[in-house]
Amino acid sequence: MKLIEDSFLPWLRFANAGMLERGNVWCIDHAVKHMPESLPMIEIGSFCGLSTNAIRHFCRINGRDNALFCADKWIFEGAEDGGPVGSSTISHEQYRDFVMESFRRNVAFFSGDLPPHPVLAFSDEFFELWRSGIEVVDVLGATVRLGGPIGFAYVDGSHQPDQCRRDFANVHEFLAPGGFALFDDSSRQAPFGLYPFMLEIAARDDYELVAENPNFLFRKTR
Ligand SMILES: C[S@@+](CC[C@H](N)C(=O)[O-])C[C@H]1O[C@@H](n2cnc3c(N)ncnc32)[C@H](O)[C@@H]1O
Repeated sequence: MKLIEDSFLPWLRFANAGMLERGNVWCIDHAVKHMPESLPMIEIGSFCGLSTNAIRHFCRINGRDNALFCADKWIFEGAEDGGPVGSSTISHEQYRDFVMESFRRNVAFFSGDLPPHPVLAFSDEFFELWRSGIEVVDVLGATVRLGGPIGFAYVDGSHQPDQCRRDFANVHEFLAPGGFALFDDSSRQAPFGLYPFMLEIAARDDYELVAENPNFLFRKTR
């Protein structure tokens, strides 16, 4: 596995809850370093902002100030029944508020110099908005216009195979030649069943497999 020694990330991980596969870090650095200049990036699935802040960290290191849009509705699988969180006295609504507040605080603290644009939307909805080129008010209160080609997509929302296929189709529609797509939890070992779809993408002649680290990083070739 390709790994990056970085003195900041351990400190980020101590304070910022989340799920960031160690191998993804190399992929993020590679994508940010080599993506087409100045195009926006998209993150699907932000949770408490760990990967958002990691992407911003590698932007800073690589001298990139490309816009970063995030799609998340912070509605978590298993929260549908509306009851308490497990055996606690905390409701799912309170849990969601807490996670969203953590996201806001974490990105304000760690990425205040390069704030992302988090859009309150599931990925399907996000790409509808992106396609329409509409102006939206993001979760941090900034007014931003969506749309256009993208340089890097970090796909870490729902890992259901059907959703992953739709996310890929939407990313493909907007990813510029030379742009990158990284699929979290897509490794052969991951329990979500995305691996066969990753092999399909790898077999396409318009994508090259950059790394299986162990998640899949692709580069669009044309
Ligand atoms: C695995 S977590 C993301 C972890 C995050 N990237 C990190 O670094 O810690 C998955 C997130 O995706 C969000 N999510 C689930 N389905 C989604 C969808 N269809 N579109 C966008 N976000 C989704 C959830 O609300 C949750 O915050």
